[in-house]
Amino acid sequence: MNRILVTGGTGFIGSHTVVELIKAGYEIDILDNLYNSKYAALDKITQLTGHRPTFFMADLCDAAALERIFAKNHYDLVVHFAGLKAVAESVAEPLKYYDNNVVGTINLLKCMQKYGVKRIVFSSSATVYGQQPTARNQETMVTGVNLTNPYGETKHVIEEILKDVVDSDPEFSATILRYFNPVGNHPSGLLGEDPNDIPNNLMPIIMKVASGELSELKVYGADYPTRDGSGIRDYIHVVDLARGHVSAIFHMRPGVNIYNLGTGKGTSVFEMIAAFEQASGRKLPVKVVERRPGDLPEIYADPSKAEQELNWRANLTIADAMRDTLTYLNNRPKPLLAMLGRYTLNLNSTTSPSRMM
Ligand code: WQD
Repeated sequence: MNRILVTGGTGFIGSHTVVELIKAGYEIDILDNLYNSKYAALDKITQLTGHRPTFFMADLCDAAALERIFAKNHYDLVVHFAGLKAVAESVAEPLKYYDNNVVGTINLLKCMQKYGVKRIVFSSSATVYGQQPTARNQETMVTGVNLTNPYGETKHVIEEILKDVVDSDPEFSATILRYFNPVGNHPSGLLGEDPNDIPNNLMPIIMKVASGELSELKVYGADYPTRDGSGIRDYIHVVDLARGHVSAIFHMRPGVNIYNLGTGKGTSVFEMIAAFEQASGRKLPVKVVERRPGDLPEIYADPSKAEQELNWRANLTIADAMRDTLTYLNNRPKPLLAMLGRYTLNLNSTTSPSRMM
């Protein structure tokens, strides 16, 4: 099993996974519509691995384009990242999310079936857990109940579709990976979270505050029943997450297999801010505001199933993620505001920020 098609392979998690898959000896093709990623990711992947994946600019909702790709290329497996993932946007535009994420996946699965591609690794999300009796989430928990956003619903629906396809075809295998909160960037500083859209997530927003694109970080609630009042999540370094995909492929087994990819540890918003300030040597402008609708107080992974069955565990720390984020920030062309000299990022000093002007 050597030739893999990665949908969404120029994206944040996809590009990091492609690097690890190439390093593990797989031959990779990428399919991406570049809606929320950049073609330049291909150059970075090539720089990091010495191999340039074949790239198809295509949209999963374009069934004819998919047909052309599968008719001319045989794949042993598909890793499926492509999908919209902005929670707030999904609330405002649910049909866009059901069309893109669910219909797109159905188109992909139809092509796979027609051309005899019998294995898929699906990029799911801890969002499918919703509110559970305990903060530590296990794969055996009931999912899809009282989800707070269409994005999470699409992930849950796709998981159910995969289970039904496997029930209908014993030769078909689906590994479902439920990500918790991916953070950090490749240590080289070449690959990173560089969304085209306006981010919802904590780390890209910290990055925009640090680079001067945003004036302050809003903390959505400091009155949660947690150790410091702010929300607690399981932040997993994106390179650990990528390596989890390599392990999942190596240990692929028949049927549907579901795994949490998380560290098993929770970190609060205030602790993430402190970690970034520690790594950068500068204070972030922060303002506590009201809770964000739909947010849970605390959720983190029970990663024991992936540890046992995939022989995988997250090794990188929050400090590693902050270090790599700063490397990436310093490697990116600086946004205009920061170029105007509001702040530089003090990578080495431990004193207060130096102003350029
Ligand atoms: C984390 C914490 C916020 C922004 C979502 C998706 C999930 C996955 C990861 C795709 C919370 C707080 C955030 C800000 C803040 N996505 N926060 N100020 O909501 O746990 O999960 O992203 O795979 O599917 O649901 O992540 O980063 O948005 O929030 O205080 O400006 O940071 O309240 O406690 P979340 P997040």
